[in-house]
Amino acid sequence: MHSINYGLEDKVFVVTGGSRGIGFEIARCLLEQKARVVICGRKQDGLDQAAEKLAAGKNLLPLAAHIAKSEAVDILFDQTLQRFGQLDGLINNVGMNIISAVVDADPGMWCKIIDSNLNGTFLCSRKAGQILREQQKGKIVNISSIAAQRSAPAMGIYGVAKAGIEMLTKVMAQELAPFNVQVNAVAPCMVRTTFSEPFWSDKTLHAAIVNTIPLGRIAEPIDIAHPTLFLCSTGSDFMTGQTLNVDGGASAI
Ligand SMILES: NC(=O)c1ccc[n+]([C@@H]2O[C@H](COP(=O)([O-])OP(=O)(O)OC[C@H]3O[C@@H](n4cnc5c(N)ncnc54)[C@H](OP(=O)(O)O)[C@@H]3O)[C@@H](O)[C@H]2O)c1
Repeated sequence: MHSINYGLEDKVFVVTGGSRGIGFEIARCLLEQKARVVICGRKQDGLDQAAEKLAAGKNLLPLAAHIAKSEAVDILFDQTLQRFGQLDGLINNVGMNIISAVVDADPGMWCKIIDSNLNGTFLCSRKAGQILREQQKGKIVNISSIAAQRSAPAMGIYGVAKAGIEMLTKVMAQELAPFNVQVNAVAPCMVRTTFSEPFWSDKTLHAAIVNTIPLGRIAEPIDIAHPTLFLCSTGSDFMTGQTLNVDGGASAI
């Protein structure tokens, strides 16, 4: 990452779900680029551990917030502005799944998955979008999944939520284009994190998944961080409403 300069020095980004996994890696890379970063998660101990590992001093603000709760999201962005005085971008990274077939899911399960993935992304994008529109400049990057584009067993509700996020990306890209705010998404294949551990830790399942990926391996969080930072940089200023599939070629075959 040192060899690539994304030109993000002093910029301010909110990374939702930055306490572990892909969000943590995005936050780490942004800090390495000398940006200032706010990370959120629901659990304070996860945020404390992340802050200790990131060791970024005053450039990092870890805040506990449940992104599907509108008051918590308002506080998250108010505190970001209070601490850093500006916002340059939002990375909507929170996502969760409960393994079930749609046909067997109870309504509570459906609502929980849609809430954390789609409603949370809406609440954060709405709040950030208002700030960035006012500033006439900014970036929103949504972390989707290739499960948005192709039905995957046990990930049906999640796939529906992520498909909603990809449409939200297009809608908000159009709404915010006149204000010089770009909205794009990154859709990974399987990435080695806690979220996907039940899949990649099983040797047979892991081999079957790798078999669908032309580049011959699952992704590491850094593979997702690089395209995300590109979408936060001026290098992507003429891109909006797009979903970049970062999947080792899986969706190409
Ligand atoms: N890993 C994969 O294979 C894969 C593949 C494609 C796409 N993705 C997407 O990539 C993103 C990151 O996934 P990951 O694998 O890094 O997940 P992860 O390891 O489970 O991390 C999720 C992060 O989100 C936070 N979080 C969860 N629900 C939250 C909520 N309601 N409000 C605030 N924070 C919340 C968690 O902290 P707390 O638990 O403390 O809240 C944690 O920091 C997700 O959108 C996921 O759908 C992942």
